Amino acid sequence: MSKLANLTWHEAAVTKHDRRTRNKHGSCVLWFTGLSGSGKSSIANALSSELYQKGVREYVLDGDNIRQGLNRDLGFSDHDRTENIRRIGEVAKLFVDSGAIVTTAFISPFRSDRNQARALFEEGEFIEVFVDCPLEECERRDPKQLYAKVRRGEINDFTGIHSPYEAPEQPVITIRSQFLTVNEAVEEIIQYLQEKDIL
Ligand code: PPS
Repeated sequence: MSKLANLTWHEAAVTKHDRRTRNKHGSCVLWFTGLSGSGKSSIANALSSELYQKGVREYVLDGDNIRQGLNRDLGFSDHDRTENIRRIGEVAKLFVDSGAIVTTAFISPFRSDRNQARALFEEGEFIEVFVDCPLEECERRDPKQLYAKVRRGEINDFTGIHSPYEAPEQPVITIRSQFLTVNEAVEEIIQYLQEKDIL
């Protein structure tokens, strides 16, 4: 028998639309994807500050942090990465329901996992943001010295080296982080949110 067989969905008394009306802004997920060191966390945090200053209900879910709590049972096998992204999709959906603009900063290397996350959302709520940066540049930056460890053989299954990264085919926003400052990247995303009347 399905694990869902004896469960009943309870309709909420306060809806996402009620919250959006009160907040005076829309809610969505800005789904960042990109290699380690591409700039996901830096841009997500700068965006968070900017939105916060505008009085927006916002939150950042970041791979390095979530993997120390909710997802501490997961490693970096393909199977675990898929489960990591499945859970984040569900958590992001709760944030969107709560009326927030949530940014997820996960490598999310597999297209099929991102597609599954996208399928949880209504039209226009899932905004894929490709933080596009060549592997060589990520390795040159190496902010956490992880690539150095990889080259010394101390990390296995590293994305871009021994584990694949499948770039988005039609991202809504592409941030070529090699050529933009963090502030310029934030501006581009804010402009998109304004164009779509989310802000
Ligand atoms: S994934 O692929 O979406 O499940 O990964 P994510 O949850 O975003 O976690 C990526 C961060 O974990 C650190 N780290 C690794 N990344 C990739 N491959 C391996 N093997 C690995 N081991 C540890 C690393 O700090 C990643 O953070 P970012 O911010 O991407 O550099």
